[in-house]
Amino acid sequence: MTALLCRLPTLHLTHASFSLSRRLLSRPARPPTVSLLGEEYPTDDVTNVTSSIAEKLGRDLHRQPAHPLGIIRALIETHFAGFTAISDVSPVVTPALNFDDLGFPADHPGRALSDSYYINRGLMLRTHTSAHEVETFRAGERKWLLSADVYRRDEIDASHYPVFHQMEGARVFSNDKAGLQELTNDTARLAAELERANIEIEDIPHISSTNPVQPEHDPQTSALVAHHLKLSLNSLILKLFGGHGASTEPVRVRWIEAYFPFTSPSYEVEVFYRGKWLEILGCGVVKQSTLDRANVPNSISWAFGLGLERLAMFLFSIPDIRLFWSQDERFLSQFSPGRVTTFKPYSKYPPNSRDISFWLSASGMHDNDFCDVVRDTVGDIAESVEMIDHFIHPKTGRSSKCFRINYRSMDKSLTDEEANTLHQQVASRVREKFGVEIRD
Ligand code: DAH
Repeated sequence: MTALLCRLPTLHLTHASFSLSRRLLSRPARPPTVSLLGEEYPTDDVTNVTSSIAEKLGRDLHRQPAHPLGIIRALIETHFAGFTAISDVSPVVTPALNFDDLGFPADHPGRALSDSYYINRGLMLRTHTSAHEVETFRAGERKWLLSADVYRRDEIDASHYPVFHQMEGARVFSNDKAGLQELTNDTARLAAELERANIEIEDIPHISSTNPVQPEHDPQTSALVAHHLKLSLNSLILKLFGGHGASTEPVRVRWIEAYFPFTSPSYEVEVFYRGKWLEILGCGVVKQSTLDRANVPNSISWAFGLGLERLAMFLFSIPDIRLFWSQDERFLSQFSPGRVTTFKPYSKYPPNSRDISFWLSASGMHDNDFCDVVRDTVGDIAESVEMIDHFIHPKTGRSSKCFRINYRSMDKSLTDEEANTLHQQVASRVREKFGVEIRD
């Protein structure tokens, strides 16, 4: 049986073997605690942090000066002179900090167990660096950058990984004569700088009926803050995308109206790079309720959030997001502090794909649950997971799914035998965890 399975590209288990294993295997009991950064946290019915995720806490890739993420972080920190740089805040937060305090509605999909990692009902892993806005404003910071690891349950492919890094930035102005003078002066300085630069900006009005001024704000002040925000970020983008290579092409930036629960007006920014528009950040004028909650009176602020992997993948030409986690010297030795260089691929081992199909059990299984089991079983060897078939039996209404898993190591060649073994381990973990029936 095992030998036969090893040779088949698709994992086929018979119903007979399934019912046998069903009797032998009971669902694994939940451990009473989960250990994160050396601390034990009690688990409960919502706990969904896996051990492969727990291992990522404390890796702090963004704090390594010769790592692409650390290099991008340092570049941005240098650009925003005079801003306080924060980079050591624990990812364990309350759902209130991550969602409620930022105005996320109770039914926002980001809160779902299928999308976020929960330690228990009262604690989760932050899904974005905005989770620290209130605390940072409350601490009295008025110009700050906060970079950190963030966690989201997601699909598996070359640009999605359940842990990635973001940087949040904000600047607070006093809403009085002196503050507005500072805003006006700095706006003029930035505008003059950009006037001389090789940059082409497609802009939209700061404010529109679908992207409104907050009722608490004076429209003129809000427009001034939004203008300063746009200039600040255009100047950052020029620094990141303008300085490398001998190109005489202008840096092209496009501003787009957006929606975030914690800003209004809100924007997204895209950069034209190697023939494509790439979305790189979200930003806006901070909701006054956030500043109120943080006890910052008579002030107005802008904020932005950007993904460090996304920027680093473009700027260093890193083709796969898993590479950031590599401890292979052939990866790490390519980078040095303060330098944006082009990554030279050192391996191109062939991928090994295997399909698995199963009938879903009554309790169901989210695609992200499946992806987490794959990662927890085989780690970064899972290059991608793609749902290739979803079948609903016309008579019985039973539903089945087929996933294609691409196994490919970044560092070595994988034999067929090894891929088969990994695939069988995935199948038995899926069966054990979700009680699904593997299809033949
Ligand atoms: N937190 C947002 C995200 O993860 C990004 C973002 C948008 C941050 C707007 C901000 C902001 O500070 O103002 O998608």
